[in-house]
Amino acid sequence: MYVAPSILSADFGNLASDIKAVCVAGADLLHIDVMDGHFVPNLTMGPMIVQAASKASSVPLDIHLMVENVSFFVDMYLPLKPKFLTFHIEEERHPLRLIDYIRKNGVSPGIVLNPHTPISSLKHIIKEVDLVLLMSVNPGFGGQAFMPDVLEKVRELRELIETTKSVCMIEVDGGVNGLNARDLDDAGVDIVVAGSYIFSSNDYEASIKSLKL
Ligand code: DX5
Ligand code: ZN
Repeated sequence: MYVAPSILSADFGNLASDIKAVCVAGADLLHIDVMDGHFVPNLTMGPMIVQAASKASSVPLDIHLMVENVSFFVDMYLPLKPKFLTFHIEEERHPLRLIDYIRKNGVSPGIVLNPHTPISSLKHIIKEVDLVLLMSVNPGFGGQAFMPDVLEKVRELRELIETTKSVCMIEVDGGVNGLNARDLDDAGVDIVVAGSYIFSSNDYEASIKSLKL
């Protein structure tokens, strides 16, 4: 299991040192939540802050766009060369076109599903993406409770990946902790995002380790 700490729960007054600390503690990716105050009822960071975060990080960025007007934001974050750039299927009218555009710009495209969005919506997309991010909370805030229905979605997605011979990875985001990591791993998750669980612990190394099964 790969672990992507979400800096949404980091200390923004000491962002660079918190980022360096989770990198040293074993993070595989750094998860960046971009919120626009429209798609979700919260606002986070723009490209200048993300660039500063990128400078402090020794691991690749995993940028999660929770925004309206997705292509506008894609153009804003592509120059930062993240490993993954993901956007919500609920918001984009032409996801395949945008996926192709992201890939042509040298970044791995990923698609995100809100808790209510069925796996069947991925049937004609699955072979084109490198990552599917399944939300296990309603997006917008850190520290919310894990929605266990995601486990069934992970199993269904794993089946779809196998039957279509897709090579995409499965990531889960929201309420992940040391108690549900085993179930997520058993269901077939490749990457977990964790914000409050890691940043509210006083031992980043131990909390990251407890997710790496
Ligand atoms: C929620 C964000 C998450 C958030 C997770 O909208 O997408 O990445 O930071 O935080 P926790 O792990 O605290 O649920
Ligand atoms: Zn996220």
